[in-house]
Amino acid sequence: MMETPLPELEAILLVGGQGTRLRPLTLGTPKPLLPTAGVPFLAHQLARARSFGVRRIVFATSYRAEMFSEAFGDGSAFGLSLEYMTEETPLGTGGAIRNAAEALTCGPDAPVLVLNGDILSGHDIGDQVARHVAGQAAVTLHLTEVEDPTRFGCVPTDDAGRVTAFLEKTPNPVTNRINAGCYVFTRSVIDSISAGEIVSVERETFPGLIDSGALVLGYADASYWLDVGTPAAFIKGSRDLVLGRLASPALPCPPGEFLALPGAKVSTEAKVDGGTAVGARAVVESGAQVSGSVLGDDCVIHSGAVVTDSVVGIGARVASGAVLRDVVIGDGAIVGPGNELMAGSRVWPGVVLPECAVRFSSDV
Ligand code: GDD
Ligand code: MG
Repeated sequence: MMETPLPELEAILLVGGQGTRLRPLTLGTPKPLLPTAGVPFLAHQLARARSFGVRRIVFATSYRAEMFSEAFGDGSAFGLSLEYMTEETPLGTGGAIRNAAEALTCGPDAPVLVLNGDILSGHDIGDQVARHVAGQAAVTLHLTEVEDPTRFGCVPTDDAGRVTAFLEKTPNPVTNRINAGCYVFTRSVIDSISAGEIVSVERETFPGLIDSGALVLGYADASYWLDVGTPAAFIKGSRDLVLGRLASPALPCPPGEFLALPGAKVSTEAKVDGGTAVGARAVVESGAQVSGSVLGDDCVIHSGAVVTDSVVGIGARVASGAVLRDVVIGDGAIVGPGNELMAGSRVWPGVVLPECAVRFSSDV
Protein backbone atom coordinates (compact mmCIF):
# COMPACT_ATOMS: atom_id res chain seq x y z
CA MET A 1 0.00 0.00 0.00
CA MET A 2 1.32 3.46 -0.88
CA GLU A 3 1.23 5.70 2.14
CA THR A 4 0.39 9.34 1.78
CA PRO A 5 3.01 11.84 3.03
CA LEU A 6 1.74 15.10 4.45
CA PRO A 7 2.91 18.68 4.45
CA GLU A 8 3.84 19.93 7.94
CA LEU A 9 1.19 18.84 10.41
CA GLU A 10 0.80 19.35 14.13
CA ALA A 11 -0.45 16.64 16.47
CA ILE A 12 -1.74 16.27 20.02
CA LEU A 13 -0.96 13.04 21.88
CA LEU A 14 -3.25 12.07 24.77
CA VAL A 15 -1.13 10.44 27.46
CA GLY A 16 -2.70 11.53 30.76
CA GLY A 17 -4.60 8.35 31.68
CA GLN A 18 -3.64 6.23 34.71
CA GLY A 19 -3.56 2.89 32.90
CA THR A 20 -5.35 1.19 35.79
CA ARG A 21 -6.08 -2.00 33.85
CA LEU A 22 -2.33 -2.50 33.40
CA ARG A 23 -1.47 -2.46 37.09
CA PRO A 24 0.97 -3.35 38.54
CA LEU A 25 3.01 -2.42 35.44
CA THR A 26 1.67 1.15 35.50
CA LEU A 27 2.21 1.74 39.24
CA GLY A 28 5.56 3.36 38.50
CA THR A 29 5.46 3.92 34.75
CA PRO A 30 2.66 5.44 32.68
CA LYS A 31 1.20 3.04 30.09
CA PRO A 32 2.65 4.92 27.08
CA LEU A 33 6.18 4.53 28.46
CA LEU A 34 6.09 0.78 29.12
CA PRO A 35 8.89 -1.01 27.24
CA THR A 36 7.32 -2.49 24.13
CA ALA A 37 9.43 -4.44 21.65
CA GLY A 38 12.53 -2.92 23.24
CA VAL A 39 11.56 0.78 23.32
CA PRO A 40 8.99 2.90 25.19
CA PHE A 41 5.56 2.25 23.67
CA LEU A 42 5.23 5.83 22.45
CA ALA A 43 8.41 5.59 20.38
CA HIS A 44 6.44 3.47 17.91
CA GLN A 45 3.63 6.05 17.66
CA LEU A 46 6.05 8.97 17.40
CA ALA A 47 8.10 7.32 14.65
CA ARG A 48 5.00 6.42 12.73
CA ALA A 49 3.50 9.91 13.00
CA ARG A 50 6.81 11.33 11.82
CA SER A 51 6.83 9.01 8.82
CA PHE A 52 3.61 10.74 7.71
CA GLY A 53 5.10 14.23 7.94
CA VAL A 54 4.14 15.18 11.52
CA ARG A 55 6.93 17.38 12.85
CA ARG A 56 5.49 18.97 16.00
CA ILE A 57 3.62 17.09 18.73
CA VAL A 58 2.02 18.46 21.89
CA PHE A 59 1.83 15.87 24.69
CA ALA A 60 -1.32 16.22 26.82
CA THR A 61 0.00 14.88 30.13
CA SER A 62 -1.32 14.48 33.67
CA TYR A 63 -0.42 11.22 35.47
CA ARG A 64 3.38 11.20 36.11
CA ALA A 65 3.78 14.02 33.59
CA GLU A 66 7.49 14.60 34.26
CA MET A 67 8.38 11.09 33.08
CA PHE A 68 7.40 11.96 29.51
CA SER A 69 9.75 14.92 29.19
CA GLU A 70 12.49 12.85 30.85
CA ALA A 71 12.00 10.13 28.23
CA PHE A 72 11.59 12.26 25.09
CA GLY A 73 12.99 15.73 25.88
CA ASP A 74 12.57 18.27 23.11
CA GLY A 75 12.11 15.45 20.59
CA SER A 76 15.18 16.26 18.50
CA ALA A 77 16.49 12.69 18.89
CA PHE A 78 13.31 11.61 17.07
CA GLY A 79 13.39 14.33 14.41
CA LEU A 80 10.42 15.97 16.14
CA SER A 81 9.69 19.10 18.07
CA LEU A 82 7.83 18.17 21.28
CA GLU A 83 5.84 20.34 23.69
CA TYR A 84 4.30 19.30 27.02
CA MET A 85 1.00 20.64 28.35
CA THR A 86 0.15 19.28 31.79
CA GLU A 87 -3.25 19.20 33.50
CA GLU A 88 -2.97 19.62 37.28
CA THR A 89 -6.05 17.46 37.61
CA PRO A 90 -7.06 15.34 34.61
CA LEU A 91 -9.48 17.21 32.33
CA GLY A 92 -10.79 14.18 30.44
CA THR A 93 -10.02 13.58 26.77
CA GLY A 94 -11.81 16.70 25.46
CA GLY A 95 -10.47 19.01 28.17
CA ALA A 96 -6.98 17.64 27.53
CA ILE A 97 -7.21 18.31 23.79
CA ARG A 98 -8.46 21.85 24.44
CA ASN A 99 -5.69 22.50 26.96
CA ALA A 100 -2.96 21.11 24.68
CA ALA A 101 -4.24 23.22 21.77
CA GLU A 102 -2.89 26.31 23.57
CA ALA A 103 0.53 25.16 22.36
CA LEU A 104 -0.44 24.70 18.69
CA THR A 105 0.91 27.19 16.16
CA CYS A 106 -1.42 26.46 13.21
CA GLY A 107 -4.34 28.62 12.10
CA PRO A 108 -8.10 27.97 12.65
CA ASP A 109 -8.64 26.14 9.35
CA ALA A 110 -5.66 23.79 9.62
CA PRO A 111 -6.13 20.06 10.29
CA VAL A 112 -4.75 18.82 13.63
CA LEU A 113 -4.03 15.15 14.28
CA VAL A 114 -5.11 13.84 17.71
CA LEU A 115 -3.89 10.45 18.91
CA ASN A 116 -4.83 8.29 21.89
CA GLY A 117 -1.52 7.31 23.45
CA ASP A 118 -2.16 3.58 23.72
CA ILE A 119 -2.87 2.55 20.14
CA LEU A 120 -0.84 0.59 17.61
CA SER A 121 -2.22 1.19 14.15
CA GLY A 122 -1.08 0.45 10.63
CA HIS A 123 -3.54 2.81 8.94
CA ASP A 124 -2.60 5.49 6.43
CA ILE A 125 -2.69 8.69 8.52
CA GLY A 126 -1.90 10.78 5.45
CA ASP A 127 -4.93 9.44 3.61
CA GLN A 128 -7.14 10.10 6.66
CA VAL A 129 -5.98 13.72 6.73
CA ALA A 130 -6.44 14.07 2.96
CA ARG A 131 -10.04 12.80 3.23
CA HIS A 132 -10.71 15.22 6.08
CA VAL A 133 -9.42 18.18 4.10
CA ALA A 134 -11.18 17.16 0.86
CA GLY A 135 -14.48 16.63 2.74
CA GLN A 136 -14.14 19.90 4.69
CA ALA A 137 -15.18 18.00 7.80
CA ALA A 138 -15.22 19.29 11.38
CA VAL A 139 -13.67 16.01 12.57
CA THR A 140 -12.65 12.80 10.81
CA LEU A 141 -12.46 9.67 12.98
CA HIS A 142 -10.40 6.60 12.19
CA LEU A 143 -12.70 3.58 12.54
CA THR A 144 -11.91 -0.10 12.82
CA GLU A 145 -13.94 -3.28 13.39
CA VAL A 146 -13.67 -5.39 16.55
CA GLU A 147 -15.48 -8.47 17.83
CA ASP A 148 -16.65 -6.86 21.08
CA PRO A 149 -17.58 -3.20 20.50
CA THR A 150 -18.99 -2.75 24.04
CA ARG A 151 -15.53 -1.80 25.37
CA PHE A 152 -15.09 1.01 22.82
CA GLY A 153 -16.86 3.94 21.18
CA CYS A 154 -19.42 2.48 18.77
CA VAL A 155 -19.60 4.60 15.59
CA PRO A 156 -22.32 4.01 12.97
CA THR A 157 -21.99 5.83 9.63
CA ASP A 158 -24.23 6.35 6.60
CA ASP A 159 -23.35 5.14 3.10
CA ALA A 160 -21.36 8.30 2.39
CA GLY A 161 -19.16 7.72 5.48
CA ARG A 162 -20.82 10.42 7.59
CA VAL A 163 -20.91 9.56 11.29
CA THR A 164 -24.54 9.38 12.47
CA ALA A 165 -24.01 8.70 16.20
CA PHE A 166 -21.25 8.20 18.78
CA LEU A 167 -22.09 5.68 21.50
CA GLU A 168 -19.27 5.38 24.05
CA LYS A 169 -19.07 1.95 25.71
CA THR A 170 -22.70 1.14 25.05
CA PRO A 171 -24.05 -2.26 26.16
CA ASN A 172 -26.16 -2.26 22.97
CA PRO A 173 -23.81 -1.55 20.06
CA VAL A 174 -25.46 -1.04 16.67
CA THR A 175 -22.31 -1.90 14.68
CA ASN A 176 -18.93 -3.56 15.20
CA ARG A 177 -17.28 -0.46 13.82
CA ILE A 178 -15.58 1.50 16.60
CA ASN A 179 -13.61 4.66 17.27
CA ALA A 180 -9.97 3.68 16.72
CA GLY A 181 -8.60 6.64 18.73
CA CYS A 182 -7.02 8.72 15.93
CA TYR A 183 -8.82 11.92 14.96
CA VAL A 184 -8.29 14.77 12.54
CA PHE A 185 -9.85 17.95 13.93
CA THR A 186 -10.19 21.26 12.14
CA ARG A 187 -8.36 23.52 14.62
CA SER A 188 -11.30 25.90 15.16
CA VAL A 189 -13.42 22.95 16.37
CA ILE A 190 -10.91 22.25 19.16
CA ASP A 191 -11.03 25.93 20.12
CA SER A 192 -14.82 25.67 20.57
CA ILE A 193 -14.41 23.13 23.44
CA SER A 194 -14.81 24.85 26.85
CA ALA A 195 -11.41 25.73 28.31
CA GLY A 196 -10.32 24.59 31.77
CA GLU A 197 -13.25 22.20 32.25
CA ILE A 198 -13.53 18.43 32.41
CA VAL A 199 -14.85 17.33 29.02
CA SER A 200 -15.07 13.88 27.42
CA VAL A 201 -14.54 14.06 23.69
CA GLU A 202 -16.35 10.71 23.36
CA ARG A 203 -19.36 11.45 25.58
CA GLU A 204 -19.77 15.19 24.95
CA THR A 205 -17.84 16.70 22.04
CA PHE A 206 -18.54 14.10 19.34
CA PRO A 207 -22.25 13.56 20.16
CA GLY A 208 -22.65 17.35 20.45
CA LEU A 209 -21.09 17.97 17.04
CA ILE A 210 -23.27 15.30 15.42
CA ASP A 211 -26.44 16.69 17.06
CA SER A 212 -25.62 20.21 15.90
CA GLY A 213 -25.31 19.03 12.27
CA ALA A 214 -21.54 19.48 11.97
CA LEU A 215 -19.87 17.16 9.46
CA VAL A 216 -18.17 14.29 11.30
CA LEU A 217 -16.64 11.78 8.88
CA GLY A 218 -15.54 8.20 9.42
CA TYR A 219 -12.30 6.90 7.91
CA ALA A 220 -12.78 3.13 8.06
CA ASP A 221 -10.10 0.64 7.14
CA ALA A 222 -8.99 -2.90 8.01
CA SER A 223 -5.28 -2.40 8.75
CA TYR A 224 -3.55 -3.67 11.90
CA TRP A 225 -5.10 -2.09 15.01
CA LEU A 226 -4.71 -2.69 18.75
CA ASP A 227 -5.50 -0.81 21.97
CA VAL A 228 -2.81 -1.97 24.43
CA GLY A 229 -4.88 -1.13 27.53
CA THR A 230 -4.95 -4.64 29.06
CA PRO A 231 -2.05 -6.94 29.96
CA ALA A 232 -2.98 -9.46 27.25
CA ALA A 233 -3.22 -6.72 24.60
CA PHE A 234 0.00 -5.07 25.75
CA ILE A 235 1.87 -8.37 25.45
CA LYS A 236 0.31 -9.02 22.04
CA GLY A 237 1.38 -5.57 20.83
CA SER A 238 5.01 -6.15 21.80
CA ARG A 239 4.96 -9.62 20.29
CA ASP A 240 3.44 -8.42 16.98
CA LEU A 241 6.05 -5.66 16.66
CA VAL A 242 8.96 -8.03 17.31
CA LEU A 243 7.57 -10.52 14.79
CA GLY A 244 7.02 -7.76 12.20
CA ARG A 245 3.24 -8.19 12.02
CA LEU A 246 3.11 -4.41 12.33
CA ALA A 247 6.07 -2.56 10.82
CA SER A 248 7.54 0.09 13.12
CA PRO A 249 10.36 2.49 12.28
CA ALA A 250 11.23 2.44 16.02
CA LEU A 251 11.96 -1.31 16.27
CA PRO A 252 15.59 -1.49 17.50
CA CYS A 253 16.51 -4.41 15.22
CA PRO A 254 15.02 -6.28 12.24
CA PRO A 255 11.89 -8.34 13.02
CA GLY A 256 12.44 -11.92 14.16
CA GLU A 257 11.47 -14.61 16.68
CA PHE A 258 12.89 -12.54 19.54
CA LEU A 259 14.89 -9.41 20.20
CA ALA A 260 17.47 -8.95 22.93
CA LEU A 261 18.58 -5.55 24.19
CA PRO A 262 22.25 -4.77 24.88
CA GLY A 263 23.82 -6.81 27.66
CA ALA A 264 21.11 -9.50 27.64
CA LYS A 265 22.41 -13.03 28.02
CA VAL A 266 20.26 -15.63 26.29
CA SER A 267 21.71 -19.14 26.56
CA THR A 268 22.02 -20.96 23.26
CA GLU A 269 20.45 -23.88 25.16
CA ALA A 270 17.31 -21.84 25.95
CA LYS A 271 14.26 -21.73 23.67
CA VAL A 272 13.17 -18.12 23.13
CA ASP A 273 10.63 -17.33 20.41
CA GLY A 274 7.16 -16.09 19.48
CA GLY A 275 8.15 -12.42 19.42
CA THR A 276 9.70 -12.27 22.91
CA ALA A 277 11.48 -9.05 23.88
CA VAL A 278 14.42 -9.60 26.27
CA GLY A 279 15.35 -6.52 28.30
CA ALA A 280 18.83 -5.09 28.76
CA ARG A 281 21.13 -7.26 30.92
CA ALA A 282 18.34 -9.83 31.42
CA VAL A 283 19.43 -13.46 31.69
CA VAL A 284 17.69 -16.50 30.19
CA GLU A 285 19.44 -19.64 31.36
CA SER A 286 19.88 -22.91 29.49
CA GLY A 287 16.78 -25.08 29.32
CA ALA A 288 14.41 -22.16 29.95
CA GLN A 289 11.51 -21.71 27.51
CA VAL A 290 10.20 -18.22 26.84
CA SER A 291 7.57 -17.54 24.20
CA GLY A 292 5.64 -14.41 23.17
CA SER A 293 6.66 -12.53 26.33
CA VAL A 294 8.10 -9.24 27.53
CA LEU A 295 11.12 -9.65 29.83
CA GLY A 296 12.13 -6.51 31.72
CA ASP A 297 15.67 -5.21 32.11
CA ASP A 298 17.84 -7.17 34.57
CA CYS A 299 15.33 -9.99 35.12
CA VAL A 300 16.46 -13.61 35.37
CA ILE A 301 14.67 -16.66 33.97
CA HIS A 302 16.36 -19.61 35.55
CA SER A 303 17.10 -22.93 33.95
CA GLY A 304 13.99 -24.98 33.17
CA ALA A 305 11.42 -22.23 33.83
CA VAL A 306 8.59 -21.85 31.28
CA VAL A 307 7.27 -18.36 30.47
CA THR A 308 4.52 -17.94 27.89
CA ASP A 309 2.61 -14.77 26.85
CA SER A 310 3.63 -13.00 30.06
CA VAL A 311 5.39 -9.91 31.36
CA VAL A 312 8.29 -10.31 33.77
CA GLY A 313 9.12 -6.99 35.42
CA ILE A 314 12.46 -5.25 35.82
CA GLY A 315 14.84 -7.24 38.02
CA ALA A 316 12.28 -9.99 38.72
CA ARG A 317 13.40 -13.61 39.02
CA VAL A 318 11.63 -16.76 37.88
CA ALA A 319 13.04 -19.91 39.44
CA SER A 320 13.71 -23.29 37.87
CA GLY A 321 10.56 -25.29 37.34
CA ALA A 322 8.20 -22.32 37.63
CA VAL A 323 5.56 -22.05 34.91
CA LEU A 324 3.97 -18.72 33.89
CA ARG A 325 1.22 -18.38 31.33
CA ASP A 326 -0.69 -15.10 30.64
CA VAL A 327 0.57 -13.45 33.82
CA VAL A 328 2.20 -10.22 34.91
CA ILE A 329 5.11 -10.35 37.36
CA GLY A 330 5.86 -6.95 38.95
CA ASP A 331 9.31 -5.38 39.13
CA GLY A 332 11.68 -7.13 41.55
CA ALA A 333 9.26 -9.96 42.40
CA ILE A 334 10.54 -13.48 42.89
CA VAL A 335 8.64 -16.53 41.70
CA GLY A 336 10.00 -19.51 43.59
CA PRO A 337 10.49 -23.01 42.19
CA GLY A 338 7.43 -25.07 41.37
CA ASN A 339 4.91 -22.21 41.18
CA GLU A 340 2.44 -22.40 38.31
CA LEU A 341 0.68 -19.12 37.58
CA MET A 342 -2.01 -18.98 34.92
CA ALA A 343 -4.48 -16.77 33.07
CA GLY A 344 -4.60 -13.24 34.38
CA SER A 345 -2.60 -13.68 37.61
CA ARG A 346 -0.65 -10.61 38.69
CA VAL A 347 2.20 -10.55 41.18
CA TRP A 348 2.83 -7.13 42.75
CA PRO A 349 6.32 -5.60 42.71
CA GLY A 350 8.75 -7.03 45.24
CA VAL A 351 6.50 -9.91 46.28
CA VAL A 352 8.27 -13.20 46.95
CA LEU A 353 6.39 -16.39 46.14
CA PRO A 354 8.17 -19.11 48.10
CA GLU A 355 8.96 -22.52 46.70
CA CYS A 356 5.80 -24.41 45.96
CA ALA A 357 6.52 -28.04 46.77
CA VAL A 358 3.88 -30.33 45.35
CA ARG A 359 3.47 -33.47 47.46
CA PHE A 360 1.74 -36.50 46.13
CA SER A 361 0.23 -39.06 48.47
CA SER A 362 2.80 -41.58 47.27
CA ASP A 363 5.56 -39.25 48.61
CA VAL A 364 4.30 -39.51 52.19
N1 GDD B 1 -4.23 14.25 29.18
C1 GDD B 1 -5.21 13.42 29.45
N2 GDD B 1 -6.14 13.75 30.39
N3 GDD B 1 -5.27 12.23 28.79
C2 GDD B 1 -6.28 11.38 29.09
C3 GDD B 1 -7.25 11.67 30.06
C4 GDD B 1 -7.17 12.93 30.75
O1 GDD B 1 -7.97 13.27 31.61
N4 GDD B 1 -8.11 10.62 30.13
C5 GDD B 1 -7.67 9.71 29.23
N5 GDD B 1 -6.56 10.17 28.60
C6 GDD B 1 -5.81 9.50 27.53
C7 GDD B 1 -5.28 8.12 27.89
O2 GDD B 1 -3.95 8.23 28.38
C8 GDD B 1 -5.31 7.40 26.55
O3 GDD B 1 -4.15 7.64 25.77
C9 GDD B 1 -6.48 8.05 25.82
O4 GDD B 1 -6.74 9.30 26.48
C10 GDD B 1 -7.74 7.19 25.84
O5 GDD B 1 -8.02 6.82 27.16
P1 GDD B 1 -8.29 5.28 27.56
O6 GDD B 1 -8.48 5.25 29.03
O7 GDD B 1 -7.26 4.41 26.95
O8 GDD B 1 -9.70 5.07 26.88
P2 GDD B 1 -10.36 3.74 26.31
O9 GDD B 1 -9.35 2.86 25.68
O10 GDD B 1 -11.20 3.15 27.39
O11 GDD B 1 -11.36 4.32 25.19
C11 GDD B 1 -10.90 5.23 24.22
O12 GDD B 1 -10.16 4.58 23.21
C12 GDD B 1 -10.91 3.61 22.43
C13 GDD B 1 -9.97 3.04 21.38
O13 GDD B 1 -8.93 2.37 21.97
C14 GDD B 1 -12.12 5.93 23.62
O14 GDD B 1 -11.63 6.98 22.79
C15 GDD B 1 -12.98 4.96 22.83
O15 GDD B 1 -14.02 5.65 22.17
C16 GDD B 1 -12.12 4.25 21.77
O16 GDD B 1 -12.91 3.27 21.08
MG1 MG C 1 -7.31 2.79 25.57
